[in-house]
Amino acid sequence: MGFRSDFLWGGATAANQCEGGYDQGGRGLANVDVIPTGPDRSAIIQGKEKMLAFDDTHFYPAKEAIDMYHHYKEDIALFAEMGFKTYRLSIAWTRIFPLGDELEPNEEGLLFYQRLFEECQKHGIEPLVTITHFDCPIHLIKEYGGWRNRKMLTFYERLCRTVFTRYKGLVRYWLTFNEINMILHAPFLGAGLCFEPGEDEEQVKYQAAHHELVASAIATKIAHEIDPENQVGCMLAAGSYYAFNCNPENVWSSRTKDRQNYFFIDVQARGYYPTYALKQMEQAGIELVTEEKDFELLAEHTVDFISFSYYSSRVAPVKDGEQAETAGNIFASVKNPFLEASEWGWQIDPLGLRITLNDIWDRYQKPMFIVENGLGAVDVPDETGYVEDDYRIDYLAAHIQAMKDAVELDGVDLIGYNTWGCIDLVSAGTGEMKKRYGFIYVDRDNEGNGTLKRTKKKSFDWYKQVIASNGENL
Ligand code: BG6
Repeated sequence: MGFRSDFLWGGATAANQCEGGYDQGGRGLANVDVIPTGPDRSAIIQGKEKMLAFDDTHFYPAKEAIDMYHHYKEDIALFAEMGFKTYRLSIAWTRIFPLGDELEPNEEGLLFYQRLFEECQKHGIEPLVTITHFDCPIHLIKEYGGWRNRKMLTFYERLCRTVFTRYKGLVRYWLTFNEINMILHAPFLGAGLCFEPGEDEEQVKYQAAHHELVASAIATKIAHEIDPENQVGCMLAAGSYYAFNCNPENVWSSRTKDRQNYFFIDVQARGYYPTYALKQMEQAGIELVTEEKDFELLAEHTVDFISFSYYSSRVAPVKDGEQAETAGNIFASVKNPFLEASEWGWQIDPLGLRITLNDIWDRYQKPMFIVENGLGAVDVPDETGYVEDDYRIDYLAAHIQAMKDAVELDGVDLIGYNTWGCIDLVSAGTGEMKKRYGFIYVDRDNEGNGTLKRTKKKSFDWYKQVIASNGENL
């Protein structure tokens, strides 16, 4: 009983939120670099306001982030001390192809990740690599319009072929696109999309989504060709929708909202566009430009496992009703009166994780991997830098218990669990540093001040014993 003996315990980060070193080693600029903190951030993320270069009036937190570019050995050693079996990270596309459309990769960038993966190997940590975690080279946005352009398939394939070949033997677990459904809610992050006034945004988003879905299938194909040991996963920003009440209209509303997200995974896991999606696109007047071979690729190269992030469940909008909203992972949800919320308004629902695990398992019957979960909170360190983060321990313990119930009582197939932001990093939604998820405190504030010193929090030792006991001691 309990978790499998080779359960992949660990933590997750993304290049743009922790690496910094934006101008080091021949790296080029990406969308994620030029997203500032402050009131403009949200419109930029949604592609409604264009920001494709730095200006003097904004602060860009990804430029330095927590400078993992220079601290990775120290950070990986701390992960190893907690007993991590896996470390999920993303590669920055622009370290490897600074512009994105070059024919030859940048050796310095390749070497950086090679050393990082070797460091993981030295500590017996299995890297889980996200090929694109919200990043798209600026040059590809300016020149081609990001993922709206079919040429992106060629550039992405080149990136994949390069990293699969170079890191063969060092990396076996890959994710093609972080939270692929985010393209609908944060299209500049998800696909490098900026909209022109009057443009049919839904048409552009679904066309870009089609390109990413085919690119993901191509990546899966070549990953398996280059090394049959490779395991490729899709990645969903998950969290099942609840109906506001038993009014059938509201039940239908929750079904529709779930499908909006599952659409992506339906294609990646089953290999074809589901009928409901085809009908919805037809009704919305969305006409995809496709090629015959796209559908063969989708059918033949489905993913090996389903990965997802889970922070909260969601509540579907009520038809013509009065409903309070609450914040959530990039997009808002209707407030659930039965749940407490974090300081950022994200509702806390451990049982929702068990429900989501069961929904995904029932739908796909493929191994699942939770690759993000955690509590973003304000930490107040004492004079030595130590944080007593019992609130974080409580959140994580309740969620681990829920996933244990899903495994032991419901029989879902779960291969691993990674907490988000195992070391404090820049928030994707707000750009803040003070929204912390880590077991390791990093001395850096919202304005970029601080020594970058790393200090273990109380949750560090707690997670260490969770891993050592394979989830028995919570
Ligand atoms: C997910 C992303 O959306 O949620 C991460 O994959 C992100 O990149 C995480 O950091 C938490 O969101 P936030 O806005 O609190 O950083």
